[in-house]
Amino acid sequence: MDEKVIATFDQSLHRCDNNPQFLDLFYERFLDSSPKVKEKFKNTDFNKQKRLLRASFYLILLASEDPEKGPERYLGYLAARHSASDLDIGSELYDLWLDSLLATVKECDPDYGPEVEQAWEQMMEIGIDYMLRRYHHS
Ligand code: HEM
Repeated sequence: MDEKVIATFDQSLHRCDNNPQFLDLFYERFLDSSPKVKEKFKNTDFNKQKRLLRASFYLILLASEDPEKGPERYLGYLAARHSASDLDIGSELYDLWLDSLLATVKECDPDYGPEVEQAWEQMMEIGIDYMLRRYHHS
């Protein structure tokens, strides 16, 4: 991944995290996006979930440094957890996830613009592509 894209994402993530509501706003929007999403999270402890999601943004950042081995090294567990044999998260839910995330970044990052949007899209696609490839093989 292009160093400029990584840096743009990293800086935007810090600006978003300066807003203590960032991940609450994301999960609020994501849960409202479909009853299917709400159902999946019906027993979730969101304080813990928010910390795990924040950590996974940094794992995606690490994965992006090595397109060949990075995703498996840093996202293997996450992919297995979301696969058909565990949480069973299909591709249509990832579209809602990304749309909800981008809308929340737009709301929380004062420097949001096309470059920031593309950086988030490109970085998150590393995680989403890998997790979907592993959907049936975990
Ligand atoms: C690239 C996209 C995604 C990332 C980075 C991500 C990240 C995470 C992380 C870090 C966890 C905690 C794993 C653990 O330690 O157990 C988790 C759990 C979970 N994720 Fe995702 N996720 C993604 C996409 C999705 C999507 C699209 C859905 C659809 C509904 C989803 C639903 C869930 C559920 C239901 C849990 C379990 C919550 C619980 O323990 O109650 N995730 N996710």
